[in-house]
Amino acid sequence: MGFRVLVANTGTTIDCAADQRILHAAVGAGVDYPYQCATGNCAACISELRAGEVSMLPYSDNALSVAQVAEGKILACRARPLSDVEVVWLGRGRK
Ligand code: FES
Repeated sequence: MGFRVLVANTGTTIDCAADQRILHAAVGAGVDYPYQCATGNCAACISELRAGEVSMLPYSDNALSVAQVAEGKILACRARPLSDVEVVWLGRGRK
């Protein structure tokens, strides 16, 4: 099963499988999503979840704090969709 992911920065809507990370789906679809480590350690892919729900794979607290999670921030490299979602990357750590 897959979901639709709207990347608000580019206005691009991509398909993302339920077991796929949003970053990988975006990059695979040709979206120039910012990232560095792709393992949840650097925060380069930090994004705001504007709509929908995701599940997060393990990540470093240094990359995403509890306070940031409470504000609706996610790491695109660790996030798998649980519904159709809308995300916007926050511009840190471009490649
Ligand atoms: S790319 Fe490093 S935390 Fe996502």
